[in-house]
Amino acid sequence: MNLLNIIISLSSIVYAIDLDVHSYSSLCDAITTTSQAVLTYYDGFKPLGVVGVFEPPYYWWEAGEAWGGFINAWYFCQNDTWQSLIYDSLMHQRGSHKDYVPANQSTTEGNDDQVFWGIAAMEAAERNFPNPPDDEPDWLSLAETVADSMDSRWDTQNCGGGLRWQIFTWNNGYNYKNTVSNGGLFHLAARLARYTTNDNYLDIAEKVWDWLTDVGFVQSNGTILSVFDGASIDNNCQELIPYQWTYNYGLLISGCAYLHSHTGDQKWFDRVLSLLHTIKIMFFTNDIMYEQACEGVKTCDNDQKSFKSVFSRFLGQTAVLIPDLNESIRPLLEASAVAAAKTCNGTVPGTGRANACGVQWTSGSFDNNAGLGQELSAMEVFTSVLAINETTIGAFSVPFSKNTGGNSTGGVVLNTDRQVDHGFQKKKTIDSVWAGLLTAISFVFFIIVGILLI
Ligand SMILES: *[C@@H]1O[C@H](CO)[C@@H](O)[C@H](O)[C@H]1NC(C)=O
Ligand SMILES: *[C@@H]1O[C@H](CO)[C@@H](O)[C@H](O)[C@H]1NC(C)=O
Ligand SMILES: *[C@@H]1O[C@H](CO)[C@@H](O)[C@H](O)[C@H]1NC(C)=O
Ligand SMILES: *[C@@H]1O[C@H](CO)[C@@H](O)[C@H](O)[C@H]1NC(C)=O
Ligand SMILES: *[C@@H]1O[C@H](CO)[C@@H](O)[C@H](O)[C@H]1NC(C)=O
Ligand SMILES: *[C@@H]1O[C@H](CO)[C@@H](O)[C@H](O)[C@H]1NC(C)=O
Ligand SMILES: *[C@@H]1O[C@H](CO)[C@@H](O)[C@H](O)[C@H]1NC(C)=O
Repeated sequence: MNLLNIIISLSSIVYAIDLDVHSYSSLCDAITTTSQAVLTYYDGFKPLGVVGVFEPPYYWWEAGEAWGGFINAWYFCQNDTWQSLIYDSLMHQRGSHKDYVPANQSTTEGNDDQVFWGIAAMEAAERNFPNPPDDEPDWLSLAETVADSMDSRWDTQNCGGGLRWQIFTWNNGYNYKNTVSNGGLFHLAARLARYTTNDNYLDIAEKVWDWLTDVGFVQSNGTILSVFDGASIDNNCQELIPYQWTYNYGLLISGCAYLHSHTGDQKWFDRVLSLLHTIKIMFFTNDIMYEQACEGVKTCDNDQKSFKSVFSRFLGQTAVLIPDLNESIRPLLEASAVAAAKTCNGTVPGTGRANACGVQWTSGSFDNNAGLGQELSAMEVFTSVLAINETTIGAFSVPFSKNTGGNSTGGVVLNTDRQVDHGFQKKKTIDSVWAGLLTAISFVFFIIVGILLI
């Protein structure tokens, strides 16, 4: 064997990502590996692909989640390789109303989907990601538009308040109210309250939190503060669907941390502590994060496989906003990052791509289950370790706000009448128009062929 052969045979061995959580360059290398893996699922690089979205079966919301994670990676690794890709995605998917309700998504988009794009725009504002030109709404304006439009859908007719899951009456789940839609609005409003100091957003956040506890989606029992999935309005939200997801906890705990950082109010700190206590019991084993509702029984769907990305980012953000919690949160994120890296020794079936990450970080190696959510979750847990860096946690890691150097000024909120359905039709109708047209075209074709044959 000559040296070249040795190098080739070594490189064909599937190594896990070798991660040192105390090394900046090791963390950024791991982020490079996983972000490149994320982009193998990107639709926009494919022929006739659409800018800003991932290939089916991945839903649109997950792209919003991904670009938020990419903005953080851009910021913490100070690497602008994907800057224009992120920018183009956030711009293209605003849709013609510039509110992240694009017409193409009208058959699937719910409040929870919209909010993850609003959160990406907020991430852009808080990290001073280069803004759109002056004649376009800036990142803060886009985040405000999302929050304002969601708030305008607040429904006092059922269950004493709250957002429905869906925006459009024709989509499945219109009669369901859930924590992620409401917790998403709470989270975004909390961040807007801190960034803008506009009390309207503080009021929205207070209103949503109070409703979530009144309706029992958020419930305390002794020292545990549980966060459930949601309930149908059909019996006045009385029958809870009891699933508990990491991402709901992530949205809520960081929302409380933003509000504590902004107001100094003890009640938000107490809520952070209760949620943190619960999280440690519910979603960690040996400090390694897991999605308890589905990982053990191997039933996680594509969405659920990405929830640890949301959870990682917002657990890190909680420690950034309340640095006194760094010592309680750091072991959780570091152990999870090490465990996640160990699962990245898979190959993607069909593509042969190496370093694919698995679903179960507790398993110690790749569990034969590759996908977009797995790569995103690993990427974001690595990024969250950078965010809680002991030296920079109280300065560089802290999100910008209007009064602390944030470039976004906001205030350009378009289309404030949010009850309208944007004139979108149920997609089926549009599809059947096309189907009708195609039938007509083929009919004409057959007549012509028939005439020629005569
Ligand atoms: C933490 O930040 C300091 C200062 O920027 C840097 O020197 C160090 O490498 C960072 N460590 C990690 C683990 O990111
Ligand atoms: C920046 O990101 C690109 C793309 O992921 C990667 O190839 C490059 O190595 C990264 N640069 C650094 C300094 O990490
Ligand atoms: C909507 O779909 C069309 C057709 O695939 C595409 O050209 C366009 O870019 C899409 N728009 C958005 C905002 O995704
Ligand atoms: C509260 O927690 C206790 C102890 O875990 C449990 O037995 C009880 O069922 C819980 N109550 C409710 C209302 O969930
Ligand atoms: C980390 O937390 C400890 C314990 O609360 C605190 O003493 C220390 O100042 C914190 N570190 C930073 C960088 O804030
Ligand atoms: C990943 O690494 C573990 C531990 O070294 C090993 O047991 C496992 O077989 C590897 N998996 C793959 C798919 O290479
Ligand atoms: C945005 O803010 C950053 C940090 O405060 C500053 O360095 C940068 O020059 C600003 N960029 C623009 C376009 O104003």
